[in-house]
Amino acid sequence: MSSFESSSLSSLPEPICKGQALTALAPMQDVTNLPFMTLISEFGSPDYFFTEYFRVHDHSRLEKHILQSITENTTNRPVFAQMIGENISEIIRTVRELVTYPIAGIDLNMGCPAPKIYKKNVGGGLLRDMQKVDQLLGALREEIDGLFTVKMRIGFETTENFEPLLNLINKHQVDLLSLHGRTVKEMYRSEVHFDAIGLAAKSVYCPVLANGNVTSAYRAREILEETGAAGVMIGRSAIRNPWIFHQTREVLSGKQITKTPLSEVYHYIKRLYEATQTPGVIERFHVNKMKKYLNFIGQGVDSEGSFLYEVRRVQTEKELFEVCEKHLLNGINEWFADEPFSGVIARPNCETPLQKAI
Ligand SMILES: Cc1cc2nc3c(=O)[nH]c(=O)nc-3n(C[C@H](O)[C@H](O)[C@H](O)COP(=O)(O)O)c2cc1C
Repeated sequence: MSSFESSSLSSLPEPICKGQALTALAPMQDVTNLPFMTLISEFGSPDYFFTEYFRVHDHSRLEKHILQSITENTTNRPVFAQMIGENISEIIRTVRELVTYPIAGIDLNMGCPAPKIYKKNVGGGLLRDMQKVDQLLGALREEIDGLFTVKMRIGFETTENFEPLLNLINKHQVDLLSLHGRTVKEMYRSEVHFDAIGLAAKSVYCPVLANGNVTSAYRAREILEETGAAGVMIGRSAIRNPWIFHQTREVLSGKQITKTPLSEVYHYIKRLYEATQTPGVIERFHVNKMKKYLNFIGQGVDSEGSFLYEVRRVQTEKELFEVCEKHLLNGINEWFADEPFSGVIARPNCETPLQKAI
């Protein structure tokens, strides 16, 4: 058995507010890297971080940039290392490497809906093969002495395997289940099936993190009440609103949320620009990369989408911050919206990931 830092813990790491429901930043490829995690921690950390997934195959090596989010983590919050793969001996080899690093636990991705991923029977593709899931979870549980967590969806095309999957989560004593309440085929588009998350929260022995369209702190509280989940995992809405974890803790303590002035959003965009800058990358490419984050941020700026319209057209850093100054420092609105404005759509939409397919 492999053991690591948290192996002496029989339970999950304490949340920031003892006794409160958990919060986690959802793993997002090309987003939740070291600079982004560090930035999020400046605005209010989640209880837990998860890395982007480490790919596991015959010749795989731990990707250096993902490892950095573990070895250089200064957030003071635990990081779980996520893997994606299906070959048991390679997965075990990867676990043995990962446990030599300061991780909170090992997470298995059983949810990725990108066709080029699921066609290899990894990620969400695993949910079609219960025997394989049984073997994989069994092998991982036997190998991992510390925390072993799973992130999955509620099925592949239908939910026919959902209850058998929950039984396997119990059979193999998974320590934490992050559940995105959609099937693989539903991608990011459909309504989230919170009833399925409620069923999981009732059926499995481990804590469940409700995931999918947790769009605000108030919505987080409603979802926790509706599902009985132990916590929430938030992805895209944390790109839009990095204050969301702090606000969720406020709401769960019975307080009103601290509203965010648009001038703070300007500051966030500035910090994001600096944090995501890579030496040698030309300005226009960096500005275009920023638009992928701004697509989400713009959903909270104005109900007409004027900020988004203008920011999508900028080419240079100077133009970008001129648009930001106009709307965030000198605009007619003063406050950032708690919920995304319904008519303002992030494009490329949420099914077009920030860089590669997931
Ligand atoms: C750009 C992007 C990248 C993602 N990468 C991963 C990943 O590496 N591992 C994973 O388990 N899920 C990944 N996901 C799925 C998210 O973790 C999350 O389950 C999904 O976005 C739903 O939560 P949300 O509505 O709060 O965004 C990704 C999602 C997006 C939008």
